[in-house]
Amino acid sequence: MPLQSFFYRKPLKELMKHAEGHTLKRTLGRTNLIMLGIGAIIGAGLFVRTAAAAGGHAGPAVTLSFVIAALGCAFAGLCYAEFASMIPIAGSAYTYAYATMGELVAWIMGWALVLEYALGAATVAIAWSEYLNNLLGGVIPYEWCHSPFEHYVKRIGEGGTELMVSVSKVLPSDVIMNHGVMNLPALLVLLGISALLIKGTQESAVVNAIIVFIKVAIALVFIVVGWQFINPANHTPYIIPENTPGYEGFWKHGWPGIVTGAGIVFFAFIGFDAVSTAAQEAKNPEKDMPVGILGSLVICTILYILFSHVLTGVAPYTDFVKAGKEASVAYAIQHYMHGYSWLGTAVTVAILAGFSSVILVMLMGQSRVFYSMSKDGLLPKVFSDLHKTFHTPYKSNIILFVFVGAFAAFVPGEVAGDLTSIGTLFAFVLVSAGVWIMRKTDPHVPRAFKTPLVPLIPILGILVCSMMIVGLPAETRNTAIGWMVVGLVIYISYGYTNARKMRARHKVEREAH
Ligand code: ALA
Repeated sequence: MPLQSFFYRKPLKELMKHAEGHTLKRTLGRTNLIMLGIGAIIGAGLFVRTAAAAGGHAGPAVTLSFVIAALGCAFAGLCYAEFASMIPIAGSAYTYAYATMGELVAWIMGWALVLEYALGAATVAIAWSEYLNNLLGGVIPYEWCHSPFEHYVKRIGEGGTELMVSVSKVLPSDVIMNHGVMNLPALLVLLGISALLIKGTQESAVVNAIIVFIKVAIALVFIVVGWQFINPANHTPYIIPENTPGYEGFWKHGWPGIVTGAGIVFFAFIGFDAVSTAAQEAKNPEKDMPVGILGSLVICTILYILFSHVLTGVAPYTDFVKAGKEASVAYAIQHYMHGYSWLGTAVTVAILAGFSSVILVMLMGQSRVFYSMSKDGLLPKVFSDLHKTFHTPYKSNIILFVFVGAFAAFVPGEVAGDLTSIGTLFAFVLVSAGVWIMRKTDPHVPRAFKTPLVPLIPILGILVCSMMIVGLPAETRNTAIGWMVVGLVIYISYGYTNARKMRARHKVEREAH
């Protein structure tokens, strides 16, 4: 295996030619791009991971976690925009990497994107299950809406009421404890959405706009109504200090806890890169792409900060470690905003609709990445086989359902969510580095949009995203490293050879024409 062959770059010309054959209409203006971004962004990150970050690490200062995560996204987003305008074909970070940094990095990127899209879909499906159970008044037995790694203890509370406390770690044997079997609702929502994708449903701009409107409206209503219920005592202290009950050490709480919280709530921003994949359809990519990417980021950041400020003001953050861990927003409304139970129901219904569209976008994104990787010979042909009638990669959708479904059914949401964050952060680091490398290796390729202040912005992107990776739990990081090692073994034993065979076959075909 000659070393340079790991760095084979897909010729830009070839990509462009391919793009010319499939010209998409340039119809998207700034507002459409911003709507596209918000549609893919707001989901389980806001309505589930915010409480997890506040309860586990950052406390009320989860607002600062959002600021850090937003900064990382903004720096990486500016780099995404340059790639999107330089290689203006509908694609993803995988395609950018193949054209700029070579096959090995492209493989690594594609493999990391599985964590982003596939595990992201699993995380949102698990969150969907939490809110569904809340809407149904908790009728789904614990065993059938939790993974085998989650446990609960039953205690008799004041007045003889039974309290159910969900815990992720194993407790001493003298405590009555039960554990989950599988998360059935999460599996079913994935099944339904996979079936839709196989049939070839394309979420239309109108449906997207309606869902965006519902999601933003519900977040705003919660902020406005909840503001009156903020209890200042819940915001004091703002950053969890030593000597507070529940303080578990410098690396878990305090400022490092805010950084860990940033890695957790980073999940809430995932999807803004979807804007960059629409470069080919933007009317004026040079100006509109950065406005689309940064515009959706700014709007979401403001909304997230206000939302988390209200959430941790209405309910004490310590509740989110215990009873309020699941369906946290509905929990806060039901327990602390008396007279607003209708809002709890409305929020839950809106959240279920909003989550469904995020799952759809993620599963679709995943099958597109696999489709490209399979066309390049890095994955087997089964991932690009199209259905005769529906013209969708149905086999890929079925395989993905089995993989994503297994995660959603048997893995806790926290684990899936943190792995998603790590995979995406890693992809962002690669994209930031890629822009800087390309300025050196290919300075003359036209770029409709140029990342400002190179190399400062890419370096800041690398630093802030790497800091969040380091802040996430060590076990999650090790699992992600294990995932990447498995990926490299597959690449060396299969993708490397097969991609070469595929290129040789294409060459013969071209010459025959
Ligand atoms: N940002 C998306 C969400 O929070 C993935 O659900």
